[in-house]
Amino acid sequence: MSQQRITTLLAGTRSYLPPEHGRSNAWICGQEEYELLSKRALDDPSDFWGARASHLLHWFKRWDKVLEADEARHKYKWFAGSRLNASFNCIDRHLIDGRRNKAALIWQGEQEMDVRCYTYQMLYTEVCRVAHALSSMRIRKGDHVALYMPMIPELAIAMLACARIGAVHTAIFSGYAEGGVRSRIQGSKAKIVITADAAKRAGKIKPLKANLDPILEKCPSVAHVVVVKHANLDNVSMQRSRDIWWEDMIDDFTLNSDFPCEPMDANDTLFLLHTSGSTGKPTGIMHSTGGYLTYAAHTTQWCFDMRDDDVYWCTADIGWITGHTYGIYGPLVLGATTVMFEGVPTWPKPDRYWRIVEKFRVNIFYTAPTVIRSLMRTGEAWTERYDLTSLRILGSVGEPINPEAWQWYHKCIGNGELPIVDTWWQTETGGAMIAPMPYATMLKPGSATTPLPGIEAGVMASAGRDGEQTAAGSLVIKNPWPGMMIGVYNDEEKYQSYFSRFGCYESGDGAQIDEDGYFWILGRIDDSINVSGHRLSTVEIESVLSACPEVAEAAVVPMPHSLKGEAIYAYIATRDDVPWNDALRKTLREMVQRDIGALANPEYIQFVNAMPKTSSGKIIRRVLRKIAGDMYDDLGDVTALANPEALTAIIAGHRNILKGEPDTGAAS
Ligand code: PRX
Repeated sequence: MSQQRITTLLAGTRSYLPPEHGRSNAWICGQEEYELLSKRALDDPSDFWGARASHLLHWFKRWDKVLEADEARHKYKWFAGSRLNASFNCIDRHLIDGRRNKAALIWQGEQEMDVRCYTYQMLYTEVCRVAHALSSMRIRKGDHVALYMPMIPELAIAMLACARIGAVHTAIFSGYAEGGVRSRIQGSKAKIVITADAAKRAGKIKPLKANLDPILEKCPSVAHVVVVKHANLDNVSMQRSRDIWWEDMIDDFTLNSDFPCEPMDANDTLFLLHTSGSTGKPTGIMHSTGGYLTYAAHTTQWCFDMRDDDVYWCTADIGWITGHTYGIYGPLVLGATTVMFEGVPTWPKPDRYWRIVEKFRVNIFYTAPTVIRSLMRTGEAWTERYDLTSLRILGSVGEPINPEAWQWYHKCIGNGELPIVDTWWQTETGGAMIAPMPYATMLKPGSATTPLPGIEAGVMASAGRDGEQTAAGSLVIKNPWPGMMIGVYNDEEKYQSYFSRFGCYESGDGAQIDEDGYFWILGRIDDSINVSGHRLSTVEIESVLSACPEVAEAAVVPMPHSLKGEAIYAYIATRDDVPWNDALRKTLREMVQRDIGALANPEYIQFVNAMPKTSSGKIIRRVLRKIAGDMYDDLGDVTALANPEALTAIIAGHRNILKGEPDTGAAS
């Protein structure tokens, strides 16, 4: 393998291999090349990332330095001194590189006949109009715009319009309810919220604007609300001088109105995205323009072997980081065709995804293990009705993919031939960190394989700062990479906490490295729960439950779940004389659903007389976690427990819960 070949690959001057029925990797030609690339990236990161950034993006001004690092403060400025614009890179450059009339975005609505397709030219037109409109509403570089929207093209258009102006978008998953939306709008101090009258989900209409109105009373930063008419709801209340319909907003701007792109510093914030942290407050992760975009495009190209005529579909909602990086920014920078689907995989029938694959001849399909598991349950027959032979690569993200789901995905969707690209990463990392190169890396079902070139991942002993170990430990990243977050909005302390334990980036996940250097992710080791690939904070759920007047204390832990990966198990200590019954459970569930959203609904609620505690009164969640997971025989060290007698009752209560027997009596 020649160095020359690696150099031409990095610089983008190597034309990729002929696809040969697609069963080869166009970019990375096998394990040997991967190893050479990794070595080169680690030996000279500036050269590696500089070459990738030059090749993948259009820069208005080239950088002075590839990386300016302040190691003491863990602050990393990638491509310092450069200028670029994300919207330009996703759209404008493709108007002159031969992709003007190529489909940029294919949108499939919930109804089969509801399809919209935007070429790069059409996307340009719409994005410019929205940028003009936002600008006329005094949105400027650095202002924050919240997007509380369903999976509709206007969401992508709004993101790219913000990027064009230099405004920071902050997407809020449309499944969040009041508390989740409020804290994210308040936390970002958004000046404008863009929403829709309603979202459509599994044949039902879920109002969004009506949900938003009471929330906005507590969000003084919001000057305007833009509403997309999506479900044609009657009687949407519009507040004069604050609210405006999307159509009316853009109506003032002609179809040929160009909007020039703001030249942004590579380290200006492109977007803010909240994730569940270890505190009750969502953490506002900030991503940069230059580093993030480079990393998004780089990983999209190499992890999915993206080629020019591919139709690529990432099923993640744009409200999550996966939708940002692999639904919008990565594929559009590369000039690809990205598919966006509004609906759910099982409605009206569990064949919806496969219909879409056949209909648009999707080549690359990226989804979550929880989706695979739920479709697996509905049977193979649904997949057999469709021609899935256009597929070349399958991807997985969000949680470890269990071997059974891996095999089903590989066999029923991949015809026993296609590689599964299991990508491990996080909101904070911006893009995939540990993942195979399809057709180049040998796969082991359940392992995300090895770190990408340029990424130095390790597993550290839980206790100390140094010393790597092969046994299970904390997954860390030892060197900076362009996609890493640039900060936590308004919370420097939180940002620093990611580095405080090991002196390098701590992921919050446990992992194990096997004898071949393959990484096996063991799940979160902080106060997060990963339900169906969605990261939720136990503290956030506990604080909603504790707000109920009947509740004295709440402790929320994860439990293994065959479909969701992890589910939420809530222990509730009630106040004196409060009866333990299903009515109270219902109230508690309603509170969680109203405040955070249905995805945070506990699987089980168990009432207890007392929580297991240390003598200083701290709840020992480790023990509660074991009980919820049925691991009574392995409760670990319980010597620190001030009230060991409480355990017997909790274990008995747990057994009853699983048998479906009601809790007896009232708290005594
Ligand atoms: O626990 C890991 C799990 O999802 C967490 C990150 O969640 P979030 O920031 O919401 O981003 C999700 C999409 C990137 C991680 O800390 N996770 C993600 N991908 C995998 C995974 N666990 C195992 N295998 C994966 N491929």
